[in-house]
Amino acid sequence: MSDIANSAAQASRNSSAGDIVIIGAGLAGLFTALKLAPLPVTVIAAAPLGKGASSAWAQGGIAAAVGQGDSAEAHCRDTIEAGAGIVDETIATLTAHEAPARIADLLRYGVPFDRDLEGHYLLSREAAHSAKRIVRVAGDGAGRAIMQALIASVRAAPSIRVLEGYEAHDLTLDNHGAVNGVCLTANQAAKDNAPPPGIDKRFHLAAHSIVLATGGIGYLYGVTTNPPYARGDALAMAARAGATIADAEFVQFHPTAIDAGLDPAPLATEALRGEGAVLINNDGVRFLRGQHEDAELGPRDIVARGVFREIQAGRGAFLDCRDAIGAAFAEHYPTVYQRCKDANIDPVTQPIPVAPAEHYHMGGIATDAHGRASIAGLWACGEVTSTGLHGANRLASNSLLEAVVFGARVAEDIEKTFTNQNTPRAELTPLADATRLPADQRTDAIAELRRAMQDHVGVERADEGLRTALAAIVRIDAMAGDDIELVNMTLAARFITVAALLRNESRGGHYRVDHPEPDPAQASRSFMTLGQLNAATS
Ligand code: SIN
Repeated sequence: MSDIANSAAQASRNSSAGDIVIIGAGLAGLFTALKLAPLPVTVIAAAPLGKGASSAWAQGGIAAAVGQGDSAEAHCRDTIEAGAGIVDETIATLTAHEAPARIADLLRYGVPFDRDLEGHYLLSREAAHSAKRIVRVAGDGAGRAIMQALIASVRAAPSIRVLEGYEAHDLTLDNHGAVNGVCLTANQAAKDNAPPPGIDKRFHLAAHSIVLATGGIGYLYGVTTNPPYARGDALAMAARAGATIADAEFVQFHPTAIDAGLDPAPLATEALRGEGAVLINNDGVRFLRGQHEDAELGPRDIVARGVFREIQAGRGAFLDCRDAIGAAFAEHYPTVYQRCKDANIDPVTQPIPVAPAEHYHMGGIATDAHGRASIAGLWACGEVTSTGLHGANRLASNSLLEAVVFGARVAEDIEKTFTNQNTPRAELTPLADATRLPADQRTDAIAELRRAMQDHVGVERADEGLRTALAAIVRIDAMAGDDIELVNMTLAARFITVAALLRNESRGGHYRVDHPEPDPAQASRSFMTLGQLNAATS
């Protein structure tokens, strides 16, 4: 990607009002805010801190080569191997090498990583890692513990203002095409501006630099491990502002979401399989044997497809932890244990029913090694981006790592490019209220969109189904009117679906039953602007 920080836009950024605005309050957003301190920063959070972000739900932990005998080179090799031929090797190398320093930062922010009596990290193993490499907290509580520590540090930082209860839906641009603000919608969590039912109360916030850190797109799917705020708004608004979207077709499905009819679906962490839990069907057969030499610890896309097909064939899929973990379950995996208990499953004595669920988007806003998007004034980090680290298939626990590595890089870059630190802090400026679609119409439209994505843009895809999904998306978009949340959802869904239609091969998380093999001629990342998307859709 070219260097987008042209001097005109830079001058505009340095003279305009407003501070650095970070949209999203998960790990990527909060870590970036802390790294930017003492520069004044406003963090926009859709929900009260700690409540709306998928980071807090992460069970596994953070991948980092900090164990004896492990190395950044081995971590990098595993990342490239998992990514199925299209990982950006420069990005993978820098990420693996910077991992130990970012773990040290998190320790300084108070994250209580599991360690033995001599202070060595206790590490878990996850699929497709060649070593025990996952730094964890309290067994399966990494996400929650990391977020608690960061939230405490953010609350204590005088330079960080947090606006809770606002969802971003549009970016505004100056005359040079640089981002200079964001349009926000207040939701019920907005203390001073909670809207009446059916009305969107909207505001503008000026900013000289914007960091998008809003997470993924999971809620576009009927079955997901992500919270409802993960609906692709940032991807859509960045694209509308002119940013390039990369690798949108690559969606990762976690093979072992607990199949208890819950939305979002609770996760049964891959670390369980790392400790020896196996996948069986109704007949007790380990169906992944024969599909990959590492069976349950094979690449996530292969395991997810194996589980998907077993369920489709009517044989069911279960994660059997009885021998490998047994009576230690509650102590070693308290989060999964509680989720099972909530669903009336006793994982000590019963196999856990599982199904694949949308878990992670490898695609997103294309960013460079500094976290810059392709328009001036805009940075992004975390799942909302496509840095090239994950290629077609993310290596487990590389996502929290990417969030902190690029959070630090974004902060460093903004510090370098922004010289005028005395601009006045902007306040919310009211915009005209907007009306949402009537509640029942809206619920039906979102349900239809999620069904179309689940049925046709999921674990297995084919040309005909993708076209069916695209027709549904276009239909829903046509009735969305002024309902910007729905407009953003349909735009994000359209990027994913069209990119999946254009990639006539199978690679990593993108599996086309009508093109089941990888095609060496297509072994490269995909990049698309809104103009190109519209041209491909018309
Ligand atoms: C898990 O704990 O299985 C999820 C880890 C990840 O998705 O990185």
